Amino acid sequence: MGRLGKLSVGGRTARTPALLPVINPHLQIITPAEMRSMGVEALITNAYIFHQSEQFRSEVRERGLHDLLGFDGVIMTDSGSFQLSVYGDISITNTETLAYQKAIGSDIWVPLDIPTSPSADRETAGRELAITMERLREARSVFGPDAPVAAPVQGGIHTDLRKQAAEEIAGMGFSFCPIGAVVPLMESYRYRDLLSVVMAAKTAIPSSSCVHLFGAGHPAMFAFAVALGCDIFDSAAYALYAKEGRYLTPHGSYRLSELSDLPCSCSVCRSHTPDKIRSSGGKERLLALHNLSVTLAEISRIRQAITDGTLWELVDERCRGHPQLLAAYRDMLLHTMDMEPHDRCSKRRFFYRGDESCQRTEVIRYHGQVSRFRCGKNVAVAIGCRIEEGFDSILSFKPPFGPYPPELCETFPIGQNEIPPWDETMMRQGCAGIRTLAEKHPESRIVVRCRALWYPFVRGELPDLEVVPDET
Ligand code: GUN
Ligand code: ZN
Repeated sequence: MGRLGKLSVGGRTARTPALLPVINPHLQIITPAEMRSMGVEALITNAYIFHQSEQFRSEVRERGLHDLLGFDGVIMTDSGSFQLSVYGDISITNTETLAYQKAIGSDIWVPLDIPTSPSADRETAGRELAITMERLREARSVFGPDAPVAAPVQGGIHTDLRKQAAEEIAGMGFSFCPIGAVVPLMESYRYRDLLSVVMAAKTAIPSSSCVHLFGAGHPAMFAFAVALGCDIFDSAAYALYAKEGRYLTPHGSYRLSELSDLPCSCSVCRSHTPDKIRSSGGKERLLALHNLSVTLAEISRIRQAITDGTLWELVDERCRGHPQLLAAYRDMLLHTMDMEPHDRCSKRRFFYRGDESCQRTEVIRYHGQVSRFRCGKNVAVAIGCRIEEGFDSILSFKPPFGPYPPELCETFPIGQNEIPPWDETMMRQGCAGIRTLAEKHPESRIVVRCRALWYPFVRGELPDLEVVPDET
């Protein structure tokens, strides 16, 4: 479900998937202009901080955000809902924050939604969601249908509420949909809950809408979230981690104090040793520069993987970086039936990376294709052996896909996959492909001839078919 896109708003455009660095006007550890030179096309800042700031409140009204921050890309503003969820109360209303975000020239405005805690019961979550939805209706009626208002999808961990929220939001015509209140899930590694919340929202968000995973800033989970159809991330992590002396990598994070080497190719890491960073007066800024570099590089890597059709491989690799991500990845593979229609039909390649690969969309889709094969009365499937003649149709076999006619041997995925020596998981899946073929052709006689090594296993997988060992 990962896709390349363009987010256009206010005459400005950013490519997606995109990372929006979070800017705190009071602590510009890396300036927006520097970020621009690092390839940042959009950023996010907090309107509530500007609003409460003696220093900036009126200056930003006069100059506008783009001029004040020195950034000509897309600028999104958050409303202060996050402060609301932390402090319980803030001194601004929904229409006030929206009017303020408009007045300071923000490109994307966020209403005062309520980020429901994951611990909230269904009734509380429903009550809070009703307030968020009311504020979205208010935004529409006060600012009109063309106002660039983001519509956060809330609902806590209750998937029916998330789906209902997304349906109503789509019905109101909003096209920028942050999935909200997921920070506490990510902070406690509850990636399986994150998966169910995102999947529930995605089922009802039109594919033309831009999906923002609110507050997701750790690069280790971007590939996973993009594969679920998230387009936008925002990162304060690059700065928050730097403040705590932590060093981000796409596989996880380290304390600077535990590093003896810097496993990264960014300019900071190539020109410093860990000791040099530790003893530098600019330690926090150096770490932030590195953290932002790796975060942006991961987004580029994901975009390239989408171009190549190798996002599954990247997701597989990243999700092995943390056991809870692996658990969520395995859950995700239970949904590949729903994901398959969104996947593309041709890719650069399919690399087999272990058992999990057997559930990928390409395999599910291939089994759908098998059921459409035409074959004659006498059909042979050759598993690890050759059959020259004596049948109307002769199919070869490639696990985890299954049987294939010679015509498909140069098309994706049969012609563009790399698999290691056969294992039982891929053979089981390949045999399922043969069963599909048999079910669709009850009129045909299907003979499976199998290399001796795999004969007992295949025999067991295909109890209703004629399976013979290859004697040649
Ligand atoms: N930042 C992180 N999560 C949220 C959310 O749910 N709503 C808003 N407005 N900002 C956020
Ligand atoms: Zn680096």
